[in-house]
Amino acid sequence: MIYRSVLFSCLLLICLISFNTRLIYADYWCVNTTYNPNSTAGRMYTDNLNFLLSTLSSNASLASRNGFYNFTAGHDPSNMVYGLFDCRGDVNPDACGRCVANARGDILKTCWNQTTAFMSYDDCLLRYSNESMFSRADQSVTFAAWNTQNATDPDKFNQVLSDMMNDIASQAANDRSGKKFAVKEADYSTFQRLYALGQCTPDLSSLDCENCLSNAISQIPTFCNNRRGCRITFFSCNIRYELYKFYNSVSPAPEPASSSSSSPPPSPPPPSNSTSSEEGGGISTQTIVAIVVPISLAIVLLVVGFCIARRPRKPYFAIIETSGKL
Ligand SMILES: *[C@@H]1O[C@H](CO)[C@@H](O)[C@H](O)[C@H]1NC(C)=O
Ligand SMILES: *[C@@H]1O[C@H](CO)[C@@H](O)[C@H](O)[C@H]1NC(C)=O
Ligand SMILES: *[C@@H]1O[C@H](CO)[C@@H](O)[C@H](O)[C@H]1NC(C)=O
Ligand SMILES: *[C@@H]1O[C@H](CO)[C@@H](O)[C@H](O)[C@H]1NC(C)=O
Ligand SMILES: *[C@@H]1O[C@H](CO)[C@@H](O)[C@H](O)[C@H]1NC(C)=O
Ligand SMILES: *[C@@H]1O[C@H](CO)[C@@H](O)[C@H](O)[C@H]1NC(C)=O
Ligand SMILES: *[C@@H]1O[C@H](CO)[C@@H](O)[C@H](O)[C@H]1NC(C)=O
Ligand SMILES: *[C@@H]1O[C@H](CO)[C@@H](O)[C@H](O)[C@H]1NC(C)=O
Repeated sequence: MIYRSVLFSCLLLICLISFNTRLIYADYWCVNTTYNPNSTAGRMYTDNLNFLLSTLSSNASLASRNGFYNFTAGHDPSNMVYGLFDCRGDVNPDACGRCVANARGDILKTCWNQTTAFMSYDDCLLRYSNESMFSRADQSVTFAAWNTQNATDPDKFNQVLSDMMNDIASQAANDRSGKKFAVKEADYSTFQRLYALGQCTPDLSSLDCENCLSNAISQIPTFCNNRRGCRITFFSCNIRYELYKFYNSVSPAPEPASSSSSSPPPSPPPPSNSTSSEEGGGISTQTIVAIVVPISLAIVLLVVGFCIARRPRKPYFAIIETSGKL
């Protein structure tokens, strides 16, 4: 027993260390559209921008916004600001609000005198411009980031990945929850499971969403070539896959009016005793030992696997490319 708790503490320590060193993925785009914030027009633009960002930020934690909101500030076309946020489909309103609030601070620091800016995080993206971007699939800039480690069995990996991604594209495009979001998982080998996600901003039509995701998927051979984890992000849609579960459990049906309680990290389901009692005839001590030991072993293995899977986040490498394609 003591041995086991020592082992567990060690594992916990390893896990904590790898959590501390993990990088939070963020990408931004705000080049070549500077304005002078001191000019009369610039001051009005700045005022509108601040109003836009505070409106978006205060709406991000509202469950009624469903993780997405677009807004326009100002009336004079010469200084109107258009903006939106979109939270990842599995993220609850609280986390969405925090992410957008954080993005609002970062975007003002990083792109303070830019008319157009985009910022993308694990949990959300935030975007504004002096031109309307609503309901348009914009794939003009490619953000790519990948794990520098490769999959061990490329052929199998690419087959599983490709099947998953195609499903995700059509599922997200036709997502009835209004989030244009889909996740999928599949066995890649006996010990490894592949987890993937795709999402469009929900203002896109189904057709535009599917095209956008297909376009992102077509970038996989270029940027994600056999990588164990990878992300392709456009302004209007993004895909991601990893060998660990990087999203919260999503039930097939959308959770009813998701409460503001933050969802706990996924934990292995507690072994229930209802099945065994239903089998009748009582369960012998030997069987119980035989079940309990493998379960605790499985949990230990799970924790180890979880920590190991988390660690490769460090060597993530990111790149941004413009294609000029809209
Ligand atoms: C900025 O934009 C102008 C015109 O739109 C272009 O000629 C110039 O090359 C751009 N500069 C950079 C650094 O992208
Ligand atoms: C938006 O800003 C860019 C660069 O600052 C400018 O070239 C463009 O004309 C502006 N668009 C509108 C609709 O004002
Ligand atoms: C925008 O900000 C950058 C860096 O802070 C500065 O170099 C540049 O002159 C500013 N441009 C305008 C038009 O104010
Ligand atoms: C804007 O005004 C502030 C002070 O009023 C000054 O410090 C800053 O350099 C000015 N920036 C530009 C781009 O003119
Ligand atoms: C949300 O957006 C609306 C405008 O659509 C705005 O009036 C309101 O103040 C924002 N914030 C909250 C918390 O509702
Ligand atoms: C939000 O976007 C839609 C188009 O998708 C547009 O019709 C609507 O006016 C936008 N709302 C605001 C507040 O800008
Ligand atoms: C992964 O494979 C690529 C070629 O596809 C190679 O350049 C790279 O060095 C490999 N990385 C590792 C960590 O083996
Ligand atoms: C077994 O399950 C029943 C209900 O199914 C519950 O009342 C009981 O407390 C459980 N026993 C243990 C040891 O968990």
